Amino acid sequence: MAGSMQHAAKLDDIPEDRGIRVTLSETPILLVRQGGDVHAFSADCPHAGAPLEKGAVCNGRIVCPWHKGTFAVADGGLIEPPALIGLKRYPVAIENGDVLVSPEAKEPPTRVPAADTRTMAIIGAGAAGAAACTALRESGFDGRIVLIGPEHGEPYDRTALSKFVTAGDMPPDEVPPLLPEGFATKQRIERVEAQAVKLDAADKRIDLPSELSLHYDAALICTGGIPKPMDVPGANLRRVHLLRSRDDAAMLVASFDGAKNAVIAGASFIGLEVASSLRKRGLSVTVIAPGKIALASQFGDELGRMFQTLHEKNGVVFRMESKVKAFIGDDTVNEVELDSGEKIAADVVIVGTGIKPATDFLQGVTLADDGGIPVDTAMRAAHGLYAAGDVAQFPLPRADQHLRIEHWRVAQQHARVAALNMAGGDEHYTGVPYFWTYHFGKRFEYLGHASEHDDVVIDGDLGSQVFIAYMMKDGNVAAVVACEREASTARLAEAMRSTLTLEEARRAAGEG
Ligand SMILES: Cc1cc2nc3c(=O)[nH]c(=O)nc-3n(C[C@H](O)[C@H](O)[C@H](O)COP(=O)(O)OP(=O)(O)OC[C@H]3O[C@@H](n4cnc5c(N)ncnc54)[C@H](O)[C@@H]3O)c2cc1C
Ligand code: FES
Repeated sequence: MAGSMQHAAKLDDIPEDRGIRVTLSETPILLVRQGGDVHAFSADCPHAGAPLEKGAVCNGRIVCPWHKGTFAVADGGLIEPPALIGLKRYPVAIENGDVLVSPEAKEPPTRVPAADTRTMAIIGAGAAGAAACTALRESGFDGRIVLIGPEHGEPYDRTALSKFVTAGDMPPDEVPPLLPEGFATKQRIERVEAQAVKLDAADKRIDLPSELSLHYDAALICTGGIPKPMDVPGANLRRVHLLRSRDDAAMLVASFDGAKNAVIAGASFIGLEVASSLRKRGLSVTVIAPGKIALASQFGDELGRMFQTLHEKNGVVFRMESKVKAFIGDDTVNEVELDSGEKIAADVVIVGTGIKPATDFLQGVTLADDGGIPVDTAMRAAHGLYAAGDVAQFPLPRADQHLRIEHWRVAQQHARVAALNMAGGDEHYTGVPYFWTYHFGKRFEYLGHASEHDDVVIDGDLGSQVFIAYMMKDGNVAAVVACEREASTARLAEAMRSTLTLEEARRAAGEG
């Protein structure tokens, strides 16, 4: 091995708060320093390929700049999704202040799993379902894993649908899969392409179509949400679309053929991402929503106005303080009527007005008023039964609140906690919620969660979308919204595991 060692860097040139990238024999390698030690890992994030040197190193963790996947400095192991596997490791030696690295990755440690006859059922083959599969195997669980869900094939990246598929940049069948290549076969994931029609929590039994059923030792419910159609005349007309699945996106894209005018009902993130995509395709786009300013109910007027202005500058027309009264057309929509009586031409409509948790099939679990599944910090809903993702009503860490949060990374954080507990662990959800969204080439990030805020402090320039905004509640930072501040938000993703004042948050971000 020593023969393949190559000079990679001077020890003194490696900072301790971030990694540096070197290339050895065409292999990109991330060097991370801890005191006098250096670790070498694969330099591109295994989730979507972000350059890890642009993120942060803090608390013994490497945080990815793009979606805040987190890895242990000690061994590159996965700590936080949306990455689902850890980093490759490379051998390192330090000689006289020189860092030598071999570009031949170390073999991951092999373990001999204990024979296990238990059956783990995962109901819902989406974000959380995929993360649960990898976490169960990572925990050493060697028994049966059954992944149930009606969508065809392996779990895929749903977040690409409103960003790249609707924009025409990615065909629906090229949406990236979530599980590493070959994982499902190698790790014996039994994929059942069907909808669970009933889960009996007392009997630990899942009923599938055609009178098939499955007994489980532990089950995870991660069935996500069902988009809510609008309760107005014409909601069933052709070319009035909801967007959740790859099939929905394929139908939507097919209806852009010859379309000139699109209407988005609801100024939600998904609605506005689609608005941005459709402007890129050259359609004229009108957004209809009841509030005064888009997204102001989540972020306050100033940030909401920033999102709305960005869209308006790119040609999106807003009809705020308006409601859809009806969709009009013979069998295909051609106009949307507002409650004011105004009619807007529409060749295609996208309804983005929220979801309801897909939990109708559950028996023996008391659901929350909105259909969510109440869980404790271990993501446990009942004996041997766990919930994760959009369906889970969970205790928000560092806050006196139980709520559902519909974010990709949160779903996968939940799933990791649940899966490790299903396998016999004692894990608790302590994560920092994180969401990203993409509009006109800008990626916005939202860290933490502010159901309410009493002030928003903005560092940077909202107009050019280079900023960090701190959403304050009772003197502490409840949440952060940012754009083009990826290294700062990587540091904050770690720091916000504790409650922070504004000054503490600014210092953690490296901007105080
Ligand atoms: C278009 C779009 C874009 C998004 N973009 C972002 C983003 O940029 N950033 C972000 O943080 N979040 C984003 N989200 C939200 C994010 O996708 C969700 O929060 C996340 O997918 C939740 O994961 P989940 O595993 O709970 O549910 P899902 O990923 O929806 O998976 C649930 C699965 O369960 C299946 N299922 C439903 N009922 C049953 C049943 N009875 N039996 C078996 N299976 C069932 C469903 O078919 C589905 O495959 C986006 C959502 C959408 C729709
Ligand atoms: S690219 Fe690293 S978490 Fe997404």
